Amino acid sequence: MKYKRILLKLSGEALMGNKGFGIDQERLGEYAREIKSLYDNGCQVAIVIGGGNIFRGIQAEKGGMDRVHGDYMGMLATVINSMAIQSALEVIGVQTRLQSAIKMEQICEPYIRRKAVRHLEKGRVVIFGAGTGNPYFTTDTAATLRAIEIEANVILKGTRVDGIYTADPEKDKTATKYETISFEEVYNKGLEVMDMTAFTLCKENNLPIIVFDMNKKGNLKNLVDGQKIGTLVEM
Ligand code: GTP
Repeated sequence: MKYKRILLKLSGEALMGNKGFGIDQERLGEYAREIKSLYDNGCQVAIVIGGGNIFRGIQAEKGGMDRVHGDYMGMLATVINSMAIQSALEVIGVQTRLQSAIKMEQICEPYIRRKAVRHLEKGRVVIFGAGTGNPYFTTDTAATLRAIEIEANVILKGTRVDGIYTADPEKDKTATKYETISFEEVYNKGLEVMDMTAFTLCKENNLPIIVFDMNKKGNLKNLVDGQKIGTLVEM
């Protein structure tokens, strides 16, 4: 196993599967099984998931909603997705703890860094809900912040493309994939990996990012085992 402690970032949209909204139970189950394969191997796993399948703060702002209000609704959406992942994992025998950046004691634990690390050491999958608890930050930033706090070895960004390309592969057929790329090059070439806040936080704290295709079975485990999958962004 190459990485002992990882933070897996999943997008909320990915949970929709082929549905236009909400959570596709089948997709949820697939993701849970992928995550279990790491858990069974003794890898320490933390998860942050977005909320875009339920609510997007930025789009609500375009419709006239106050941005801060919309962002809080988005944070609540991530808690719903976190609870879904938690349940899907527990059904297949994975021990989990859910911690939220916004207190909701009846539903989950509040975010406490030292407790989160202890849970990981005891082999529990820890899911971080409600983003950073602050408006104007994305779940990519929340994922990065938590990854740094818990001293994860790497942040794994599960997407539907298999890495970072020279151009958008869905539009440009000549686009090629990077196996590795430096933070500096991502800036210079204006490539989109994460939003700038999240990306800069990774760079400043020397936290490598791997962008990979989460929908390909076995990818997650093979990646953590050390196979070259997706694109690695590092110093
Ligand atoms: P240890 O310290 O290793 O015993 O961890 P633990 O999580 O098993 O201990 P704890 O007694 O803190 O938690 C037992 C259960 O209660 C776990 O499922 C926790 O997720 C849950 N729990 C702990 N604190 C809270 C909380 O504030 N709200 C909610 N809803 N559940 C909590």
